[in-house]
Amino acid sequence: MKKLLEVKDLNISFHTFAGEVQAIRGVNFDLYEGETLAIVGESGSGKSVTTKSIMQLLPPGNSEIKAGEILFNDKDIVKASEKEMQKIRGKDISMIFQDPMTSLNPTMTIGKQIMEPLLKHRKLSKAEAKERALKLLDLVGIPKPEIRIKQYPHQFSGGMRQRVVIAIALACTPKVLIADEPTTALDVTIQGQILDLMKELQKRIETSIIFITHDLGVVANVADRVAVMYGGKIVEIGTVDEIYYNPQHPYTWGLISSMPSLDTTEEELYVIPGTPPDLLNPPKGDAFAPRNPYAMKIDLEEEPPMFKVSDTHYAATWLLHPDAPKVEPPLAVKERMDKFQEKQAGSLNGGK
Ligand SMILES: Nc1ncnc2c1ncn2[C@@H]1O[C@H](COP(=O)(O)OP(=O)(O)O)[C@@H](O)[C@H]1O
Ligand SMILES: [Mg+2]
Repeated sequence: MKKLLEVKDLNISFHTFAGEVQAIRGVNFDLYEGETLAIVGESGSGKSVTTKSIMQLLPPGNSEIKAGEILFNDKDIVKASEKEMQKIRGKDISMIFQDPMTSLNPTMTIGKQIMEPLLKHRKLSKAEAKERALKLLDLVGIPKPEIRIKQYPHQFSGGMRQRVVIAIALACTPKVLIADEPTTALDVTIQGQILDLMKELQKRIETSIIFITHDLGVVANVADRVAVMYGGKIVEIGTVDEIYYNPQHPYTWGLISSMPSLDTTEEELYVIPGTPPDLLNPPKGDAFAPRNPYAMKIDLEEEPPMFKVSDTHYAATWLLHPDAPKVEPPLAVKERMDKFQEKQAGSLNGGK
């Protein structure tokens, strides 16, 4: 598969009154054509900052890309001018955010808002842009597009607004769609519908998707690969199956344990004890060590490299060092893995 985007050794800091917040500390990943890559991690782990940098949408006042490259079409986005970015944003790379209301203009019909990028980037005539807008509304599952196209955002429900936002993002058939927690602000039923739509779109369009979420539970059916972020780094990356069936990093174990259970809602949700690292003073060793019941002495002293588990699976934990004691994932994780496997098997038999 062809690489579309290469993020190499990305380091990003924020300059604040309290000092330098080292938000992103050496992030590396590739995005391939047509794939969906999920980026998962607790709030504050650096998911949004990483992806905003791909769009050059970091706050200009206090953010600084200290090092790294973001290669897109062999061009380094880090070095691109604002003029070059305006040609890329919304055309080659688009982004959708958590809250659909803030991404829409309340004073403009949604038809105009979908047509805007088409008129700007694709130089279509008004009639052509309208035709395409109607098709896009249909694509994202909005009934009666001819009527809806003339309406304003407030006439749409939250879920329908998010569909409109997705239609705008897809208008110019971008190469990359970044979806930053696109379902987090929606209620559970609507969340499911938007996830189904993303899954459906993934099959029907060729766009690669970066899907950001704090909930590992939602990505199993949407993503091809998963990157787990912690404290401004990717600590584990692999295919969905590798992350769910063969997780290696104790932080990934924690995320799996804290997934809402698949068949009961009664039990209390597991929460990983402790708090994320202070990025004003990042720890010397593995940033997860203070929360890691399996931490060894070296975890407090030296940062673990990315150990190779398979050609597609890497994890940054000293537990993978050949000399480390063999540690099995905790029972709760194994139970989740089994349940997950059962559910997958069930949904396959049930003809998905
Ligand atoms: N404008 C900002 N000023 C200072 N620190 C920031 C700013 N934006 C983000 N950060 C810091 O960067 C880190 C990563 O944030 P973010 O990428 O938004 O996390 P996530 O999306 O994973 O929840 C956090 O520690 C956050 O406090
Ligand atoms: Mg975020």
